[in-house]
Amino acid sequence: MSTVQPRAAVRHPIGRSDQVPEGGRFVVDIGATTVGVFRFKTALYAYENVCAHSGGPVCQGRLVPRVRELLDEAQRTVGAAFDEDDLHIVCPWHGAEYSVTTGAHPAQPLFTLRAFPVEEEGGTVYVTL
Ligand code: FES
Repeated sequence: MSTVQPRAAVRHPIGRSDQVPEGGRFVVDIGATTVGVFRFKTALYAYENVCAHSGGPVCQGRLVPRVRELLDEAQRTVGAAFDEDDLHIVCPWHGAEYSVTTGAHPAQPLFTLRAFPVEEEGGTVYVTL
């Protein structure tokens, strides 16, 4: 009888800190896994470049602030506005959106991206997978 041992997580240096600009992303291959690293309000986030909808290259999609519906006192729609505190990634295949800070779809929270630990040290960004 054979047993499969789980692979130990490895911390990978993936690039310089300045390759992940504020409000931007850096997409990199780590072995067979493509990872998108994002910086928003100085914090870093890393996700596998696989959309939860149908596997599209989500980390290479457009980055836009969340659009929120504006309501009046009677809860009638009076317009829409960007929420600059919630940056979204929009998958280029069919338009599914995910919050950069949570990796979750705003309307379907169980619809999430696979996240990895990410940190920076001495001007280098590291992702653990
Ligand atoms: S694969 Fe991303 S929205 Fe469909």
